[in-house]
Amino acid sequence: MRHQLPVYSPISLRGICSATSEVAARRTAVIQSAARLLERTYNADRAVLCGSGTQALRLALRVTAQWLGSLPVAALPVFTCYDVGTAAVGAGSPVMLYDIDPGTLGPDIASLRQALESGARVVVVSPLYGVPLDWGAVCDCVAPYAAVIIEDAAQGHGASWQGRPLGSLGQVSVVSFGRGKGWTGMGGGALLLRGEIAATVDARVAGSAFGVELKTMVNATAQWALGRPSLYGLPASIPWLGLGETIYKKPAAVHQIATTSAALIMHSQATAFAEAAARRARAAELLGRLPARPGIRTIEVPDGSVPGYLRFPLRLAGGMSGFSSRTQAQRLGIAPSYPTTLSALEAVQQQMAAGRRNQWLGGEELSRQLVTVPTHTRLTEADRAGVLRLLDTYSER
Ligand SMILES: Cc1ncc(COP(=O)(O)O)c(C=O)c1O
Repeated sequence: MRHQLPVYSPISLRGICSATSEVAARRTAVIQSAARLLERTYNADRAVLCGSGTQALRLALRVTAQWLGSLPVAALPVFTCYDVGTAAVGAGSPVMLYDIDPGTLGPDIASLRQALESGARVVVVSPLYGVPLDWGAVCDCVAPYAAVIIEDAAQGHGASWQGRPLGSLGQVSVVSFGRGKGWTGMGGGALLLRGEIAATVDARVAGSAFGVELKTMVNATAQWALGRPSLYGLPASIPWLGLGETIYKKPAAVHQIATTSAALIMHSQATAFAEAAARRARAAELLGRLPARPGIRTIEVPDGSVPGYLRFPLRLAGGMSGFSSRTQAQRLGIAPSYPTTLSALEAVQQQMAAGRRNQWLGGEELSRQLVTVPTHTRLTEADRAGVLRLLDTYSER
């Protein structure tokens, strides 16, 4: 029942034990130290640690509205993690969508411009799987409209654009420390503010309940124990755990990060960065050995950027159905990306601002074709060879 992990977020037993003792001793100081660490790492003037990346994004939308003095229309990528929709719904933001260029996973600039022309004054961009988007092109597109860009770097760990880490590019950025992220705290996220907005807005959040600490410790221990290919088949086979499923989650109130998560973030920083370097090496190896077959296309990376490859994205003409054995592909950790665009989610539809209808050709193509391959260090040489064999017999159907 060997089953590869879709992602591997390093966490050590020693880290869990130290985090536990730190939480008991000094709750507030731990969160403050983690905030200072994030401000240094992401070159931010202020870091606000929240219960999740979704909450941090919701807070980002709220403080941006405060800063602009009105509730602006937010332009969201039509193809991204459903949590981006959750955050906008939670913040009460009127929403417009813009299309994604399937070749780069970045914004389709013409579509983004149309959203701005139609009145959007906040733009959320979310680089997927750690593939940087062309930040310069986005800034050039947005500048004439004086809109605020929110950089949602939840999947950006280990990636950089022109030498700057993802998560450090915007006036407002968001990072996530969720269970499957490059740098994990088994939960948590951060809003990162720079410049005048950092000094101006009220970004205070309510404290978290103590029960969250216990839950985080239990989850961290379970992930440490079961997050290995020999055992992962067990949790992966329990349907109610919903591992690897993409579902829309209703918004939860914004609260402060669990102290346990803050402590785990500090303990796992070095291993998370080492893992990111290994992911990049594995992605380069995969890229070099990828069979040249019709129906298999890679994603273009902008000049001067380094991807973090949380997973390795591929556009496969027939999606998962072109593999000779879908079960084997899944056991090797190969997985489809998001099954629909945000435009298909009822909660997002209800939040849609008037005045803009569109076709989402890029996003819809990605929901049919985008498949991701694991890049982490728990993949053995045999796993990597198995992935290549499956790709070698991939047939466009
Ligand atoms: C692009 C993107 N934004 C936001 C989030 C939300 O982060 P979290 O899981 O910490 O709530 C995710 C989570 O996967 C994400 O992928």
